[in-house]
Amino acid sequence: MSETKKSILDYETVALDDEKSALVIIDQTKLPYDIEILSLTKQKEIWNAIYLLQVRGAPAIGVAAAIGIYLAAKEIEADTSEEFYDKFKAAKEYLASSRPTAVNLFWALNRMDDCCRANLDKTPSEIKKILHDEAVAIHDEDVWVCKQIGQYGLSLVKPGDGLLTHCNAGKLATVKYGTATAPMYLGQEQGYNFRIFADETRPLLQGARLTAFELHESGLDVTLICDNMSASVMKKGLVNAVFVGCDRVAANGDTANKVGTSLVATVAKRYNVPVYICAPTSTIDLNTPTGDDIHIEERPAEEITEMWYKERMAPDGVKVFNPCFDVTDNDLIAGIITEYGIARPPFAQSLKEIFEKKKAHKDSNK
Ligand code: MRU
Repeated sequence: MSETKKSILDYETVALDDEKSALVIIDQTKLPYDIEILSLTKQKEIWNAIYLLQVRGAPAIGVAAAIGIYLAAKEIEADTSEEFYDKFKAAKEYLASSRPTAVNLFWALNRMDDCCRANLDKTPSEIKKILHDEAVAIHDEDVWVCKQIGQYGLSLVKPGDGLLTHCNAGKLATVKYGTATAPMYLGQEQGYNFRIFADETRPLLQGARLTAFELHESGLDVTLICDNMSASVMKKGLVNAVFVGCDRVAANGDTANKVGTSLVATVAKRYNVPVYICAPTSTIDLNTPTGDDIHIEERPAEEITEMWYKERMAPDGVKVFNPCFDVTDNDLIAGIITEYGIARPPFAQSLKEIFEKKKAHKDSNK
């Protein structure tokens, strides 16, 4: 089922429709030409939506997975909570196999799993209600998290600054605000007049199709550049800071994000431009020691050789390497901006402190 409407700003990226028992998403593969809203009820459809990047971006994938596993749980027929949990685990494993790199997928599924296990003394129908509320909480918390990141990010820049971003870590990658774009949107509300450069982001063009699109629709000053132009704008002094999102931050601060981020960070180091990783704590994985331990997704060769072209643009049979993400070494990163503050090098220590703050915050709200 789909419907069309005028502006991207009218829609939520990812939401739960309780009436239809559906995961509702903007189909991001159709942007910027068509705004198509998908209402997904079957597990196979939800798995495909994540795999095919109809819903994408680490936080949005996490929220989609939380809603997806709730919808799976809702359909489970079981007489006992043990039987319920066995079926829940099978559904969780299935959704977890949709994409490997963004840790938010596993974070959200594990949080739903923890919630399920903590309530196995209840009846299956009571557990279903609790899982519903947990999925809604994961969705709603994302808005607060991104706003916090935006406020911390804004404290690092000044009105009129030039900001560069790569891929899409915008509202289309989250529930609202985005992560890397949160300082930009909050700055817009406060009259900062940023000049933003968006890398087009080969091969799937998330920067052109999504970031340039959503920022332009929102009335921000955005200039689209090809991925090989970041040195040109930095050398001219047009960029004061780089803000990017991330798919997984390792315990030492090494950061996996859309392929090309590492190149931007290397160039930024050359021109003394600080690089900030905008990272909800759900994207920080202290169980992954370094960037070398992050599984990098590889995608089909056709994304490079054929997609977007009228005809194939590479010789038949040529070898193609298409890693979807790369790892930016921690020494290229000036700060990791989380909802609990900004971690500075050395990250092994400062990231632990961020999680201590998170725990203190949770404990004080109990
Ligand atoms: O393959 P994608 O489009 O899901 O990759 C997305 C990115 O790399 C984003 O920059 C990242 O998920 C951060 S989202 C706030």
